[in-house]
Amino acid sequence: MYGRAAELDREGVDLIHLELGRPHADTPQHIKDATKKALDDGIVHYGDFRGSAHLREALSKKLKDFNGITAAPDEILVTNGLTHASFASIFAAVDPGDEVILLGPYYPQHIGKVEMAGGRVVPAMLDVEDNFSIKRDLIERSITPATRMIILINPANPTGRMYSAEELQIIADLAIQYDLLVLSDEVYEMVTYGEVPHISIASLAGMRERTITCFAFTKAYSMDGWRVGYLTACPSSYKTAQISAWAKRDFAHLY
Ligand SMILES: Cc1ncc(COP(=O)(O)O)c(C=O)c1O
Repeated sequence: MYGRAAELDREGVDLIHLELGRPHADTPQHIKDATKKALDDGIVHYGDFRGSAHLREALSKKLKDFNGITAAPDEILVTNGLTHASFASIFAAVDPGDEVILLGPYYPQHIGKVEMAGGRVVPAMLDVEDNFSIKRDLIERSITPATRMIILINPANPTGRMYSAEELQIIADLAIQYDLLVLSDEVYEMVTYGEVPHISIASLAGMRERTITCFAFTKAYSMDGWRVGYLTACPSSYKTAQISAWAKRDFAHLY
């Protein structure tokens, strides 16, 4: 938030924040209680940099039951929110000169990360007249020999679109045909309406090994200020193995 709006915010004026998705609810009481207990129990020191084994085991079960993604605890990295998860993923996978297709309209924060990694964002704008549906030609025409990754935000911010299995299959087919990675930002996976289920693209055939899926507790549990997220990639795949290699290299000097 900038300028006059930032001034009003500092003065305590009750503003509606359209620049970020701030959940309106409080963090659930059982989460606060468990956190207070953990502090009182002295759980305040360095832990496993990948996230505690206990948490990654619970996340492994959640990924299987809710997202249809088979991920061992060792294939999960706990991060400081989705921002850190996507930053780590982009820095691991995008090299200078790589092109990254970003489905639009998009959440702009991912652009800076790609550019910091030396990559170039190629927006693929979905059509408002077509209810922002994913259409093969809209994306395929942006693919060049330099394309490395497609960034998908599902459910989408700012449109609120939840992509169907058929739409996700279009991305999967393109990723497999052109040998691309997909970074799937699923920060809004629990903010859905009606009976339509959220579908994780990594649950589609052939996609686990070429998808880095980023999640966070941010919107799901109204924990935006807590900064907790996680990602899962598939270390057995040469495509996503760099994520864990990067994480290990980055933290190795601490131990
Ligand atoms: C699509 C999207 N991705 C990521 C984020 C940031 O998530 P976090 O606060 O967990 O870093 C937001 C926040 O509004 C968002 O809308």
